This record gives sequence, structure tokens and C-alpha cells, in this order.
Amino acid sequence: MLLLSIETSCDETAAAVVRDGREVLSSVVSTQIAIHAAYGGVVPEIASRKHLESLSPVITKALHDAGIGMEELEGVAVTRGPGLSGALLVGFSAAKAIAAARKIPFVGVHHIEGHLFAPFLEQPVDFPFLALVVSGGHTHLYHVEGFGRYTTLGRTIDDAAGEAYDKSAKIMGMPYPGGVLIDRMAQSGNTDAIRLPRPLLRDGTLNFSFSGLKTAVLQQVAKNPVSIPSQAADDLCASFQKAVCDVLAAKTEAAIRQTGAGRLVVAGGVACNSGLRLRMASLCKQLGVDLAIPHPSLCGDNAAMLAVPGDYYLSHGFISSQSLDVTATWDMDSIKESMK
Ligand code: KG4
Ligand code: ZN
Repeated sequence: MLLLSIETSCDETAAAVVRDGREVLSSVVSTQIAIHAAYGGVVPEIASRKHLESLSPVITKALHDAGIGMEELEGVAVTRGPGLSGALLVGFSAAKAIAAARKIPFVGVHHIEGHLFAPFLEQPVDFPFLALVVSGGHTHLYHVEGFGRYTTLGRTIDDAAGEAYDKSAKIMGMPYPGGVLIDRMAQSGNTDAIRLPRPLLRDGTLNFSFSGLKTAVLQQVAKNPVSIPSQAADDLCASFQKAVCDVLAAKTEAAIRQTGAGRLVVAGGVACNSGLRLRMASLCKQLGVDLAIPHPSLCGDNAAMLAVPGDYYLSHGFISSQSLDVTATWDMDSIKESMK
């Protein structure tokens, strides 16, 4: 199927044209980061209004870049949730309108399902596989048996990994979103310079906790203020990154051993992190597990990733109704039931 996909769950307005859930003909992402940076985080109402402004030109560009007309589209896939309700409504309403006007089916997709299947745009992964999804709102381990067949093995009990990155960066005086800056500064720092906790490392579950780590950064900065740029800041970033990667790697290893998984997918915005990419590569090599991490351009929020599950659902008769609403929270474990 030739699909248009649309993503507006947070602060990226994105549209893509994808053939058969595999071939990306175009992918356009318009970010609002510079606007929200002034407030130190995403302001929901501003996000909705910016989506409203940007979405139409973004869709027009996606169609233009793909070299196709609206009349050639065979379906629309759109993020239905989770995310900011007002932001989701903009993309969802546009998807409904296009589907109604063109008399084509549309499907509302879970945002994390998009992240999970982003590697499929490069190379399909055989089922079943283990997935670590690390983003601004999620830090989850899933056992994935097929499209719509997910079991949550572990999840963060407080902050998500990306949230911990961004909040720690803010504490150190960096602009939002600081995850990528910590990653960059960590390259020149000493990972053993500052002792930081590894929360829940050996608690026997596959859950994560990052709020204590963020608090430890706060205490460290209160004791020894860091200026940016400085070696001290680089050292704190490197020590923080090591702590996050230690926990993510330990829990992923435990999940691989528990499930006997032979394949691992790592996805979501934090999968751009250079330390995590290296760490996951060495873990998988050591355990003899195949690793799929998408190219960084496919790790952050984009619309192309939604077309993978979108194509599956539409071609298997999961068509959303025109009366369907968005959902700010949505459990991955019961996804197929909630799509009917
Ligand atoms: O998946 P994503 O684009 O949006 C959500 O669905 O949340 O993830 C965004 C998160 C942000 O917290 C951002 O700081 C983090 O991913 N991130 C990074 C890096 N690049 C993006 N965190 C650490 N290192 C990076 N290189
Ligand atoms: Zn995301």
C-alpha cells in the first residue's frame, strides 16, 4: 500500500510517504525545539498551535518529495497516542479529513509501535525479538511476538531515560533538550570521575528508575557547581552517561537471559546516544544476539516509522472509524483489542 503517515504527538510535526511499510519515498520532520527551548521544556498549548501551522506544509512537502499526488494515496497512518492530547488531535483530525475526502482507510497507531518498528525500514527483523524502547517518555523492555503482540517485561517506575538526560542537563545549566549535549560532552569526559548511583541495578526485576540518578546530579552540582564548557562538566556528563548505560545494559542482559531472545531491537530518541549504541553492540556481541538499532535519523520522532505497523494493520483489516478519539495514555499489551 502507498501510505501517508502523520506524527504530531509531541514537538515534532512529521509526515512521510512509505510504500508497503518498507520503502520510504519521503520523510519530512519539522521540529519545534527552538520554540520550546525558551521555556525549558515542551509547552503543550504552543505545541498544538505550531502543529496546526506546520502540518499542512509538511504534508505538502512529503507528497512533493515523494513525487506523488494525494489521489495516489491508498491509506493514512497516524499517531493516536500516547502523547499530548491537543498535539495528537491536530495530526489525527488531518488524517481523518484526508481519509474521508479521498475515501481511503486510516489507522491510529501507537507512537511506541512506530519506534519499535523503525528498524524495519532498513531491514526487517524476524519475530520474536526483545525490544528496549528509550525515549523522552518511555523506558520499556518488550517481548515482541508480532505486530500488536507485545508483553511488557519491564518499565521505568519514575522518569524515562530521555527525561533523566534532559532534566540532568537542565540542572547543569544546558538548554532543552540536553540529552544530545550530554552525549557530546561525555565524549571528552572521564566516566569514573564522579560516583553516581545505578538505581534498581540488582533488584531482581526488569524495571528501571532514573529519578535518584537525577537527584544525585543535583546534589553533585550543588556541592561542586560546574561551568559549561569545562572539564568538570564533561566529567559529570561522562559519569552520568556511564551510569545510565550500565543500568540499561544490565536490565537488557537480564531480559535476554530470561527470554532466551536471539534478537534485540533498541529504539526511541535515546537510541541516538553514542554511548548506548556502543554498549548495546558489545553486549549483543558478547551474548551472541543480533542487534538492530535504526540509523539516528530514524530513532527520534518521525512519521515514516508509523507506516510499518500502519501498513500491517490496514492490510489486515484494522481500519479506524471516523468517530475514534486520540488517547494520551495507551497500554501496549492490549493494543489489538483496543484497536477494534
Ligand atoms: O523518541 P523521541 O524523539 O521523543 C519521544 O517520543 O519522547 O525522544 C526524545 C528524547 C529526548 O529526551 C532527547 O533528549 C533524547 O531523546 N535524546 C538523547 C539523544 N538524542 C536524543 N538522549 C541522549 N543522547 C542522545 N544523543
Ligand atoms: Zn517518540
